Amino acid sequence: MRQRIRRHIVLIGMMGAGKTAIGTEIARRLQVPFTDSDAEIETAAAMSISEIFARDGEAFFRERETQVLARILDGPPGVVSTGGGAWMRAENRALIRGRALSVWLNCDLETLWHRVRQRSTRPLLKTPDPKATLATLIAQRYPLYAEAELTFDARPGDSVEAAATRLIAAISAAHPDLLEAR
Ligand code: S3P
Repeated sequence: MRQRIRRHIVLIGMMGAGKTAIGTEIARRLQVPFTDSDAEIETAAAMSISEIFARDGEAFFRERETQVLARILDGPPGVVSTGGGAWMRAENRALIRGRALSVWLNCDLETLWHRVRQRSTRPLLKTPDPKATLATLIAQRYPLYAEAELTFDARPGDSVEAAATRLIAAISAAHPDLLEAR
């Protein structure tokens, strides 16, 4: 179905929640642009996220993240996946609330851990006990993630396709004004 969306759809949530995979799929189905803020930061810096953290530090990365987010949200409405820490900054929450429907991809620790444990691309998890770090981040972040306009509970067994189908249905049900056929 070809759609027009009146606002961006911004996916927030932890590393491994499926923001990029599900975001890519719902953008493809709605035929709207998809943007991944981490990928945009990497392209602009010509460095990986790990390299940016190692060379310039997290504070520098967070500044870039806000700039990139503002630029993306200035563009035509599309689906945007954000890095897991983006929603933690009040400035970013205000930007997103002003221009987008925020959707939290809520996912449990075991599922997240299963997905991120093999990857070395997340600098925040380069700790002696990355699973405990993940649990700490969950405890800090979930109360704020819960302030998203829509909470989508990921089901561990869901394929990307099944999750995308459920998410589009949830958005249409909760925000029928956001999607319009064209
Ligand atoms: C981060 C998540 C990463 C990336 C950076 C910091 C976080 O993005 O932005 O490593 O603070 O949770 P993903 O959520 O896409 O892995």
